[in-house]
Amino acid sequence: MREIFEGVYELKGRILTKNLDKGKKVYGEKLIRIDGEEYRNWDPTRSKLGAAIKCGLKTMPIKKGGKILYLGAATGTTVSHLSDIVGKEGEIYAVEVAPHSMKRLLQLCETRENIIPILADARNPAEYQEVGKVDVVYEDVSHPEQASIMNKNSVFLEKKGYGLFAIKSQCIDVIKSPLQVFKEVEKELSEKYKIKEKIDIDRYEKAHRFLVLRKKE
Ligand SMILES: C[S@@+](CC[C@H](N)C(=O)[O-])C[C@H]1O[C@@H](n2cnc3c(N)ncnc32)[C@H](O)[C@@H]1O
Repeated sequence: MREIFEGVYELKGRILTKNLDKGKKVYGEKLIRIDGEEYRNWDPTRSKLGAAIKCGLKTMPIKKGGKILYLGAATGTTVSHLSDIVGKEGEIYAVEVAPHSMKRLLQLCETRENIIPILADARNPAEYQEVGKVDVVYEDVSHPEQASIMNKNSVFLEKKGYGLFAIKSQCIDVIKSPLQVFKEVEKELSEKYKIKEKIDIDRYEKAHRFLVLRKKE
């Protein structure tokens, strides 16, 4: 096994994180014991960041002790791996608009104290402005205004702070080609961010691209 990023491991092609909540699975993932430690398999078909890692992500701004604003947390599949990585000293502010997903996310927060659930619409950052500055804004919302949401939420980042962003082209326009949609989304994001990496994650999620961003000003 080797550590490919802080708190992220690779073993025989599988991506793993060390389980912060020992003995518990979050979404049916495999638990693996190695040298007395317990790891959780990070399924790239269930998490776009997991897919981006498998497809060659180079920059991983999520680290131990980090403070993350996560937009579109759903039931907490990817959030749970970020919770493993940032550990007990870190914080993940998990924003989700759908009450039914929030109900399951709340169960996760009962045992993972580093996840702070926020029932809010990510189009209105004023609803959760008390979060303050974070190291990374992560966005995976299925919403046609994906890019504008990421631009609005740049207020939580300092200059050169990182953004991680999953583009779902079919959520934005089903008629245009994914490449055309990616181009338009990237242009809109360039108002606030520099694009550091572009990773096509088609292998795991049809017509999706994952971006690593850095805030301009
Ligand atoms: C693709 S799912 C997220 C999956 C999750 N990121 C993961 O990897 O585990 C997209 C989520 O975005 C949420 N969403 C859509 N519009 C939103 C908005 N305006 N504000 C917050 N969440 C939103 C949806 O309810 C849904 O749960």
